[in-house]
Amino acid sequence: MRIVTARLSGFRNLSEAALAFSPGVNLVQGRNGEGKTNLLEALNWLALGRSHRGSRNEDLIAFDRDELHVALELEEDAGARLACEFGLDRSGGRRLRIDGEAVRRRTDLVGRLATVFFDPDSIRLVQGGPERRRQFADQGMAEIDPAYLAHLTAFQRALKQKTGLLRDLRRGAVNGAQARRELAAWNAELAHHAAPVSLGRAEYAALLTPFADRIHRDLAGTDQPLVFTYRPRLESVARAVSSGGDAGVENRSGNHALEQDVSAEMDYIVGSEIQRGRPLTGPQLDDFEVRLGGPDGLDLRTFGSRGETRSAAIALILARSDALDRRRGVRPVLFLDDIFSELDRERTRRLQEMASRLHQVFIATARPGDIADWRPEGLKAWRVEAGRITDIPADGGAD
Ligand SMILES: Nc1ncnc2c1ncn2[C@@H]1O[C@H](COP(=O)(O)OP(=O)(O)O)[C@@H](O)[C@H]1O
Ligand SMILES: [Mg+2]
Repeated sequence: MRIVTARLSGFRNLSEAALAFSPGVNLVQGRNGEGKTNLLEALNWLALGRSHRGSRNEDLIAFDRDELHVALELEEDAGARLACEFGLDRSGGRRLRIDGEAVRRRTDLVGRLATVFFDPDSIRLVQGGPERRRQFADQGMAEIDPAYLAHLTAFQRALKQKTGLLRDLRRGAVNGAQARRELAAWNAELAHHAAPVSLGRAEYAALLTPFADRIHRDLAGTDQPLVFTYRPRLESVARAVSSGGDAGVENRSGNHALEQDVSAEMDYIVGSEIQRGRPLTGPQLDDFEVRLGGPDGLDLRTFGSRGETRSAAIALILARSDALDRRRGVRPVLFLDDIFSELDRERTRRLQEMASRLHQVFIATARPGDIADWRPEGLKAWRVEAGRITDIPADGGAD
């Protein structure tokens, strides 16, 4: 998957632009606040159907305009071209098109573009709260397997119902005996989805680790293995994962033994849940460890230095691309926003070497020094100044 060309109009502070990209490395240079991230955001919007920064669609429209329009020409790995467009306006209107034909459902367009995005906030994958790591694994597994996403969504819906029921029970708003019967039913429903979600997370951690480790060794120049390990909250899941190994993970949906164990584990603590008024176990409380030096190595979540944490986060995020390629044969477009900051010279050089071998990559940087002597084959470079995007000729011009 590559982005061949882009036409932008009315997107944040960016001037109207028609750009033709390199199939390899694309560099976006400019001082802070000039519009580099805006450009990456515009190119990545179709992957998520929203801003990767979590901005509202309306905020993407230039202050002095009523609508924005972005058209991308994509090339799939097999060579087929695809013209995708989206338009947003101030009244909340959204127009999506593929090859000139209007598509009504957002899901028909979103996901056509596979991307991996690293931005400065991504470093919190390692030392931020468990929710970040869960989201990371969920997103990675969902793009590999739609059935995983279906189970995850159903699980979250059922959990919301159970949470509401426990709250009502605590307030005395529902009858106790009936609520207990309903709780048992919700636990059965939850277990039905929790089992495949848990096994999916275990599978993703196992899939990702060797790729992340390889990248991390190249990046950090270390022999210390990097390990991404699933730490489920449910004991029945922990037992299944540690004993079953890959075999247990193979058959994710329809693992009835695990489903029953999970359901029994949830039923067992229902008394405490009623007392506390909220669910006390389940995949919503899972975490993942990031260890350096093997399965018993340094837990980077709590003990990693800034540099170690940063390298590990970069490695994990880049590894998502390899995982997607391995399992779906799709090579995503990579966006690396401000990735060199806080990396020392050596790691910067190593990352650049790696980036030259990556599929298609867009790198935004405010520090010309970081990329001064770097001229990978097929490089294209742009300067962004007050939203104006101009070509930097291949014969230099990088100051
Ligand atoms: N809807 C908008 N319309 C016009 N300008 C915007 C809009 N949203 C953000 N901006 C401007 O974009 C600039 C930030 O661009 P950004 O891409 O984040 O910079 P950087 O080059 O540091 O990545 C700011 O000057 C901000 O005012
Ligand atoms: Mg930026």
